[in-house]
Amino acid sequence: MSGIPVIAVDGPSASGKGTVAQRVAEVLGFHYLDSGALYRLTALAAERQGATWHDEQAVADIAAKLDVVFDGAAILLAKSDVTEAIRTENIGIGASIVAALPLVRAALLERQRAFALVPGLVADGRDMGSTVFPHAPLKVFLTASAEARAERRYKQLTERGEAADLAAITADLHARDERDRQRSVAPLQQLPDALLLDTTEMGIAEAVQQVLAWWHTATEVQRKSVPSA
Ligand code: DC
Repeated sequence: MSGIPVIAVDGPSASGKGTVAQRVAEVLGFHYLDSGALYRLTALAAERQGATWHDEQAVADIAAKLDVVFDGAAILLAKSDVTEAIRTENIGIGASIVAALPLVRAALLERQRAFALVPGLVADGRDMGSTVFPHAPLKVFLTASAEARAERRYKQLTERGEAADLAAITADLHARDERDRQRSVAPLQQLPDALLLDTTEMGIAEAVQQVLAWWHTATEVQRKSVPSA
């Protein structure tokens, strides 16, 4: 592994892990990887190229050749701005289908690891701690109750002006959680070495403070275990 410090933040959809991970990265001056965006981009690229989401080889080839630029807050796919297009419910469903395909996950592995650059990285997803950055000095499993997550997703969609139905969102989150947990490769799971952060009753600021406190403890422990020359 590269020796670059990585904070791995894994958890289910709509748990708030993206916002928390991004803010932690800002505070520490670290890079940020939204690994879910890569699966969403793959689903969108497949749809645009006429491949079905279940065609493993075709989708893996598309994933390997993704022409993506992360330009600050904007995401460009083959030079077109897809920042909003990858956030729809339909592409979220496509992402969870293509993410269950082993060849697709393999095609995206090195692309994710390439985000680990000095001075450090905060990476969020489902398998950051288990597969992509197994040596991360801090692993967080960030979750919230199904009801809280459904309400957050509902609020997000309505704030963006999209039509939203709470019952449909709850059912969809449930189906997506099941697909992410049950798949054979890199399933969503809380690892024994991951610290649990349940944000059901917690605001973003408090969650960020908790991750930062854990990070300072983890780096302190590391510093003490490396004898000075
Ligand atoms: O975090 P998100 O909702 O943007 O992720 C979209 C889908 O991609 C989600 O269903 C799970 C999948 N995913 C994954 O399998 N592994 C990751 N590291 C990140 C996301």
